[in-house]
Amino acid sequence: MLAVAVLAAGKGTRMKSALPKVLQPLAGATLVERVLTSCEALHPERRILIVGHQAERVERELQGHSGLEYVLQQPQNGTGHAVQQLLDPLADFQGDLLVLNGDVPLLRPETLVSLLEQHRASGAAVTLLTARLADPTGYGRVFADATGAVSAIVEHRDCNDEQRRNTLTNAGIYCFNWQKLAAVLPQLTTDNDQGELYLTDTVAMLEPAMHREVADADEITGINDRLQLSQCEAVLQDRLRRHWMAEGVTFTDPASCTLSEASRFGRDVVVEPQCHFRGASSIGDGCRIGPGCLIEDSQLGEGVSVVYSVLRQARVAEGCAIGPFAQLRPGSEVGPQCHIGNFVEVKNSTLAAGVKVNHLSYIGDADLGAGVNVGAGTITANYDGVHKHRTVVGAGSKTGANSVLVAPIRLGDNVTVGAGSTLTRDVPAGALALGRARQLVKENWSGPAPTP
Ligand code: UD1
Ligand code: CA
Repeated sequence: MLAVAVLAAGKGTRMKSALPKVLQPLAGATLVERVLTSCEALHPERRILIVGHQAERVERELQGHSGLEYVLQQPQNGTGHAVQQLLDPLADFQGDLLVLNGDVPLLRPETLVSLLEQHRASGAAVTLLTARLADPTGYGRVFADATGAVSAIVEHRDCNDEQRRNTLTNAGIYCFNWQKLAAVLPQLTTDNDQGELYLTDTVAMLEPAMHREVADADEITGINDRLQLSQCEAVLQDRLRRHWMAEGVTFTDPASCTLSEASRFGRDVVVEPQCHFRGASSIGDGCRIGPGCLIEDSQLGEGVSVVYSVLRQARVAEGCAIGPFAQLRPGSEVGPQCHIGNFVEVKNSTLAAGVKVNHLSYIGDADLGAGVNVGAGTITANYDGVHKHRTVVGAGSKTGANSVLVAPIRLGDNVTVGAGSTLTRDVPAGALALGRARQLVKENWSGPAPTP
């Protein structure tokens, strides 16, 4: 039997944030979500989150994760005090307890699998994860012999100069034999620089205590401040880009692009410099993105090109060309082979196949039929100051430059709208609609005589 406990009650004072530390985001997922994901492969029988600081907020953010148990730690008197809160809920539990610090987000699932395997094979009372860090400042130091047996963990602030030279670092990830841990937890004392109950002190009370060193020291990076947050973001971004390059995506300037965990890319996608993918976006085979794009929660079909543009909650079918300088806002549904050009904004609108909106337009709350050609500067006036209304334009219609379609309004198929028209009434199929002042020309007009 395996229970997992994630320590997520701390405030994260060093972050200087209104957000509890474990809710800080990294590449589109919070720290605590990442920690929870890292232990999924172990299929634990129980998953317990120890919450305290802003507990309701942490629980609310994790609503989508089913099967989590919450245990309240109030006040937060250290990592040992946090685990003491399990004595009651795990009173009848027999098996291993994996404890994960909620602020160690880069762990690979394989690392936890092998930690648990080693722990079970050796029969140790505790097996903890360690790494050799070039700069272990701030971390607990692990004192172990050549066989891997650990005698003690001493926190950085409690170390003397000589102890600080030890670079074997505590990751904050431990497999305990629960019953042996439960027997020593009540013996913890606050005899340390912070006056807290340290989980790390249990290690010296347990026999045998073993450690397992990870090969990639990045994995154990803990996040206490914004600098470490940015360092972890950099590691994650590097991992994500390497992953997608291995899957057939070209990045011409990888370091200038950022990806989110939930973004997906097809084969032969080319990502040019300064492109950012957020949320759950999917980019079809052969798309060319960038330079200079922000794509969030959007789906692109095959062979779409996007240049210097922003897409949010938009869907773009195959073969479209977007930009430069276009904005597709939520609810934009763009059919195949459409062209959306410079300084065009689209919102909550469907564009059927082959629609062209090439220059300087606002298309909001509209349905444009196949092959519609929207002239430069055409605006759908969708808002009367109180309500939003729809504009419907039939297939094959064309609007002249600088037209205003005042919604609600319907234009049938193959309608032509004269340039500069402001239309407030529906137009039947096949008609020419003009809504502008007739041009007046006064010949031989020299204007008033200049005043002397
Ligand atoms: C801890 C370890 C240190 C290790 C480091 C790895 C202890 C005493 N020290 O130090 O050896 O090298 O992690 O990153 O454990 N938390 C609670 N309740 C509390 C206090 C903390 O739930 O009362 C949670 C925090 O939310 C956090 C985690 O425990 O997710 C670690 O706490 P933190 O204060 O960051 O410990 P470190 O000083 O980093
Ligand atoms: Ca920490």
